[in-house]
Amino acid sequence: MDIRQATEADVEAIVSTHIVAFQGFFLTMLGPVFLKKMYSAFINQPNGLMRVAVDPERGIVGFAAGSVAPEVFFSVLRKKQWHGFLLAALPSILKNPAKVVKKLYYALFYKGDKPKTLKKNALLSSIAVCPDMSGKSIGKALLRDFELQVRQAGLDGLYLTTDKFGNDNVVAFYQKAGYQIENEFTQPDRRQMLRLVKSI
Ligand SMILES: CC(C)(COP(=O)(O)OP(=O)(O)OC[C@H]1O[C@@H](n2cnc3c(N)ncnc32)[C@H](O)[C@@H]1OP(=O)(O)O)[C@@H](O)C(=O)NCCC(=O)NCCS
Repeated sequence: MDIRQATEADVEAIVSTHIVAFQGFFLTMLGPVFLKKMYSAFINQPNGLMRVAVDPERGIVGFAAGSVAPEVFFSVLRKKQWHGFLLAALPSILKNPAKVVKKLYYALFYKGDKPKTLKKNALLSSIAVCPDMSGKSIGKALLRDFELQVRQAGLDGLYLTTDKFGNDNVVAFYQKAGYQIENEFTQPDRRQMLRLVKSI
């Protein structure tokens, strides 16, 4: 298993992995065009960080995406590309306007939910492993690699947000890797979230 920096050529496989790993999630509902734009940004925009786990036979089986400067990253993305993201989400807006528009508004104005106390922390936005490859320590290896990249960028910590309810498995996965619950908060879309942190 090799873990390396993602390139634009990996985007299709990253999106396929996202779709099978994050079934029923809001971002998945926005569709593959939106997801391609989002993961391309993590690969190509300054301050983005996008790593992939590559199996010699299967190709990409997992990924970790985030940013070493989340506020700057999302602010630049919003200024430069908001219309592109809106356009990419258009098919799902038309399919389900009531559900999508409010959440999309929140997504477009997302700043990374970084607390003021965590000045030098990177954000892990999403991590996923193909379900048929889970339980083989790929997630753990991706997390460790991501932390190494963050440390090499000169930062001393990481944070992430994840659902508070119905998500014990994922929280257990992070806690086993040394993450601690720092806080909890409610998003404008009423989703109750936990913020986890780790010093590295
Ligand atoms: C969460 C996820 C990335 C874990 O990846 P994985 O490759 O299956 O996990 P690993 O095999 O590396 O497990 C690492 C450790 O976490 C524990 N763990 C993993 N999944 C777990 C689960 N469902 N319940 C409890 N513990 C779990 C493992 O037991 C292992 O413990 P160990 O260090 O003592 O061996 C993967 O299940 C996934 O993609 N889930 C869907 C997407 C998602 O929810 N991502 C996180 C939110 S952004």
